[in-house]
Amino acid sequence: MKNLTLTNTVQTQEDKDKQCELQKSGEIPEHIAIIMDGNGRWARSKGSIRLHGHKVGVDSVRDITESCAQLGVKYLTLYAFSTENWGRPSAEVRGLMRLLVSSLRKEAENLHENNIRLVTIGQLDRFPEDCRKELQEAIELTQNNDRLQLCLALSYSGRWDITEAVKKIATHVKEGRLDPSLINDQMITDHLSTAEIPDPDLIIRTSGEYRISNFLLWQLAYSELYMTEQFWPDFRREELYKAIRSFQSRDRRFGKLSTTKDENGLATRLVDKLK
Ligand code: FPP
Repeated sequence: MKNLTLTNTVQTQEDKDKQCELQKSGEIPEHIAIIMDGNGRWARSKGSIRLHGHKVGVDSVRDITESCAQLGVKYLTLYAFSTENWGRPSAEVRGLMRLLVSSLRKEAENLHENNIRLVTIGQLDRFPEDCRKELQEAIELTQNNDRLQLCLALSYSGRWDITEAVKKIATHVKEGRLDPSLINDQMITDHLSTAEIPDPDLIIRTSGEYRISNFLLWQLAYSELYMTEQFWPDFRREELYKAIRSFQSRDRRFGKLSTTKDENGLATRLVDKLK
């Protein structure tokens, strides 16, 4: 495997050591999903226009993608454009589309060389033709790559995703192919746009907001949440490492108890006494 060059820099020994430490200190999340927020405020704090924040935000996307691949994260989902973002001033929406097209042009080959697969979720048909074409080309180019799957959520919202799944399931019922009593969690999961992707282990939100903002609403049922004050353009690999360290310190119980042998024994004795 050649060295990753998404950021066009050689990885330092110090960074390699940090990644190695993280890999040894606990589990690396298989799927990280990120609500990239704060580009506008970051730009304002620098006396610059919002689009400048989005541009520097692309550098963060590159650095986080590269470090996730190096660490062995298998899925990285980025909330790049929400359904609600269509309501922003048209100049900003156009600017974001242009940025997406130019980033894809610059990065598609790079992603491919680094064995990263690009996929998208969301209402791509709402995007302008040039955007769709660029995305389609990058998706096709990288379709057989398997080091890391980079999923861009574009014109995406969790409620839209669930609504589409409900429509598909309702159609099966209407056509007499499905008994409604057989509808269960797994069936809904299988009809979401993320059907091929495991649920996120860790969801990160930048910019000091404590909201999910209509992101992967169904999929986040047991995700660990990590919120940071950093604006997205400042969120680079050191911040990612902090998030992963925090993830590694969590006790993921999935609604069950993390009982030790001793606790189990104590519980059994208590139940026996109550009999
Ligand atoms: C949120 O900041 C960010 C976005 C709505 C867009 C994120 C897009 C990028 C990082 C660039 C394009 C992405 C790719 C994958 C090439 P905000 O504008 O809501 O910031 P604010 O809350 O401070 O106003």
